[in-house]
Amino acid sequence: MRIPEETVNKIRQETNITDVISQYVQLKKKGKNFFGFCPFHDERTPSFSVTEEKQIFHCFSCGRGGNVYSFLMEVDGLTFPEAVLKTAELSQIEVDEALVSGEQAKLQNKDSKKDFLFKIHEESLELFHHILLQTTAGEEALAYLLKRGLTQETIETFGIGFAPHERTLLQQYLVGKDYPEELLKESGLFIEKENGDLLDRFSNRIMFPIRNQQGKVVGFSGRLFETSDFETGPKYLNSPETYLFNKRSVLFNFDKARPAVRREKEVVLFEGFMDVIASWQVGIQNGVASMGTSLTNEQIQMLERITDQVLVAYDGDDAGVEAAKRAADLLTEQSDFDLAILSFPDGMDPDDFINEKGASVFKELISHGRDTLFSFKMDYYRRDVNLKNESERLGYIEKILTEMLTITSAVEREMYLKQLAVEFDISIDSLNEQFQLRFYEQQKKRSKEPKKNTPSPDVRSTTFPQVHNQRGKLDSVERAEQLLLNRLFHFEEVRIQIKNLSEEFYFVHDDYQMLYLYYENFQEHAQYTLSDTSIEAFIDFVKETQLKNKIVEIEFQSLGVEITPQEIKDYIDVISRKSLLESQLKQTKDAMTEAAKKGDQAQLRILMIEIVDLSRLLKNG
Ligand code: GTP
Ligand code: MN
Repeated sequence: MRIPEETVNKIRQETNITDVISQYVQLKKKGKNFFGFCPFHDERTPSFSVTEEKQIFHCFSCGRGGNVYSFLMEVDGLTFPEAVLKTAELSQIEVDEALVSGEQAKLQNKDSKKDFLFKIHEESLELFHHILLQTTAGEEALAYLLKRGLTQETIETFGIGFAPHERTLLQQYLVGKDYPEELLKESGLFIEKENGDLLDRFSNRIMFPIRNQQGKVVGFSGRLFETSDFETGPKYLNSPETYLFNKRSVLFNFDKARPAVRREKEVVLFEGFMDVIASWQVGIQNGVASMGTSLTNEQIQMLERITDQVLVAYDGDDAGVEAAKRAADLLTEQSDFDLAILSFPDGMDPDDFINEKGASVFKELISHGRDTLFSFKMDYYRRDVNLKNESERLGYIEKILTEMLTITSAVEREMYLKQLAVEFDISIDSLNEQFQLRFYEQQKKRSKEPKKNTPSPDVRSTTFPQVHNQRGKLDSVERAEQLLLNRLFHFEEVRIQIKNLSEEFYFVHDDYQMLYLYYENFQEHAQYTLSDTSIEAFIDFVKETQLKNKIVEIEFQSLGVEITPQEIKDYIDVISRKSLLESQLKQTKDAMTEAAKKGDQAQLRILMIEIVDLSRLLKNG
């Protein structure tokens, strides 16, 4: 089954590329374009841009670019038809049912390992979920979840399930479906006995599916069910690391939270699954949790791509406060997030808090009860200090003043200095003096070790967006080639002007020559079939990713709206001169080889001089 070209065009035309990309990348408008962090590689300054006008994206740093379809193909690893259907889905455009199911059937026939493993997980979820909701084996677990305040709807939304005592249930269920034994072993859902038999890894556990960024189940976390006496083990048991599941790069609920994170411009970071779920149920849907360990770089980067504000909402017990401090330090070191912290009283975790105090008190805490990072730290350092003891008190003030070096806003700094002054009955002037002293010491140290790139106070980063302009790197010929193609893409008369050249015209670089030929082909095809002749359609027409990227680079050359034949002639002259020089150089080199063979020293010397001259001309071209 193929998706008809009209449908492909229609969906693209009715979609706004920024709506789709913003579900993956946090975009900020700068002038006509939008900028954000490129989702395809790590970077510290945003060089990924999207233009609505042209409906294309381009990363100035890695060079990737294309239209909405190429974006989805790359970011979600989809095939072209899958990307088209996904675009339709994201833009809520109705598509013929037959097309969708045709694509799904194809997907199911694909026998790649990954798809099998996804399917194994999806089927396991269905089995566990069914047992929880529909069978007597799941009754007690269900009652427990309902008692903890989860609704049936929430249980369904998260696909929560139950793995009962029997250790061969899942094994029998999946073996009956003819999955290759090797794949079952690789799924991580089983333990292999010495005789080679498989036992279910999870038993007597409430099963929380863990999904990847695309919402596909890649593993489970099973919570030991309370009423059991004869089964032991950790409270939460996770799937082991598998081909699908890498604990470091998964955040629980990231897939479902993404739209809310974009809406709220903030992500709430919890410690536990139950906290994420309980918050979701009361309408806080921008929550995620790491997999029971401290935050990893990968997870921080996932968050950076969708927001720049993090609310840390860890448990209120000692372990939780320590973990929050660690998370805050990590986030400060590794990223530029605006951080805020929620503290829960009496050792409660967010889930306890919601159940005890109610949804509205929780929401009130989120909107008005948050601490700034600094006031959290002030409280944190005060915990073990006896403030009645003079030297401990001075030590504390020292610590706070040093911490204050990390605050970049002068207004905020003054606020805390005032707070300290009042609390310890010290004049604000002397506190300020102490702070300045530290500030200059730090500056002195910095200038000695120039590598450090932490921002110093007062130097707010104002470099957004820092675009590495590709154009600066192009030589004059390549630039002429790009500008000529840009004009060709937008003005019919340029096509004619090039075609009417008396001499055969070639682009110097193969990529541009290919693009030129493709474009001619595309135009002829389009005229013949009366279809879309836009650049976006051309991007789909060209199949090589590298060339697609070039088209986008070309489109990003900004040029005036008026053209003259002279402008085009200038480009052509630059390009032809270069091709002419190149072919002359090649001929001369051949002649030199000949002369060398014949041992004609005089001729050789003449040719060598010629080559040097030609090379120089070419280089300065
Ligand atoms: P409830 O006890 O059901 O309320 O869960 P919780 O979300 O409050 O769990 P808790 O605060 O004890 O732990 C927070 C997170 O740490 C959990 O969601 C798990 O991801 C992780 N975790 C807790 N205990 C274990 C364990 O024994 N093993 C592993 N691997 N992870 C754990
Ligand atoms: Mn809890």
